[in-house]
Amino acid sequence: MKLQGKSVIVTGATSGMGKAIATRFIQEGAQVILNGRDESRGKSLEAELNQGGKKAVFVPGDVSSPDVNRQLVQAALDHFGQIDIISTNAGRLGLGSVTDLRVEDWNQTLATNLSSVYYLCHFAIPEMLKTEGGVILVNGSIAAFKSFPNHAAYNASKAGLVALVKEMALDYGPKIRVNAICPGPVDTPLIWDSAKAFENPDTIVQQTANSTLIKRLGTPEDIANLALFLVSEESSWMTGAAVTIDGGISVK
Ligand SMILES: NC(=O)c1ccc[n+]([C@@H]2O[C@H](COP(=O)([O-])OP(=O)(O)OC[C@H]3O[C@@H](n4cnc5c(N)ncnc54)[C@H](OP(=O)(O)O)[C@@H]3O)[C@@H](O)[C@H]2O)c1
Repeated sequence: MKLQGKSVIVTGATSGMGKAIATRFIQEGAQVILNGRDESRGKSLEAELNQGGKKAVFVPGDVSSPDVNRQLVQAALDHFGQIDIISTNAGRLGLGSVTDLRVEDWNQTLATNLSSVYYLCHFAIPEMLKTEGGVILVNGSIAAFKSFPNHAAYNASKAGLVALVKEMALDYGPKIRVNAICPGPVDTPLIWDSAKAFENPDTIVQQTANSTLIKRLGTPEDIANLALFLVSEESSWMTGAAVTIDGGISVK
């Protein structure tokens, strides 16, 4: 029970990696505010995680809105009394090159992937500083370092996240540790959407899996295992890091 009694906010918890992370954290003793926009998936996950005790509270909303992030912080304070850990996972692709992308898509991708992390941290960090501190874990991507075609807004937002993580680590250490996970191809709905930027989506996902040195896509649980390490005391000397977890694909 590495997170016994810890109070956590997980965005993007209704699917994929965020869901696996929230589930893993609760198994390790945490209590979690779950966020996503899809109310039916959010409520059913909340019910599943609350079997055997109340550990999860679903707070629906679009994280591209500053107010929703304020509500997530307030919900954590109301239900659990403090905030110890933040795990941001909400993300969208907004496929397109700079010339193809509509201005609205650019803005929405930057707001969902990057500004949302600023909003949540803006409201949460003052509360975290009132206690003994805490940990912020941002879900980035290898797209921060290795560009994907037709992903202009996505690549830029993920590079921005890595810069923001390092900056917050500087400003809020030693009380608050801030790190990023930078996954490669993980088997979630998002990777299948991402593949639509290419001519043959099924083939490209299969080729991508084969291009990893481990010869498979990552699983959400692979990411949850790393997330648990990065928010637990076991990583207490790590901050400002962007940790790649990608089956070795970016070695090539
Ligand atoms: N899959 C990959 O290969 C891969 C690789 C590197 C990085 N990542 C990153 O990993 C993170 C998680 O993605 P995933 O692969 O697990 O995809 P996913 O299964 O599609 O999950 C995305 C999550 O983000 C939530 N979300 C999207 N827009 C939102 C918004 N505006 N407000 C609130 N929640 C929002 C979705 O919930 P609702 O639909 O309920 O809103 C969902 O829970 C993303 O940041 C993604 O960029 C993914």
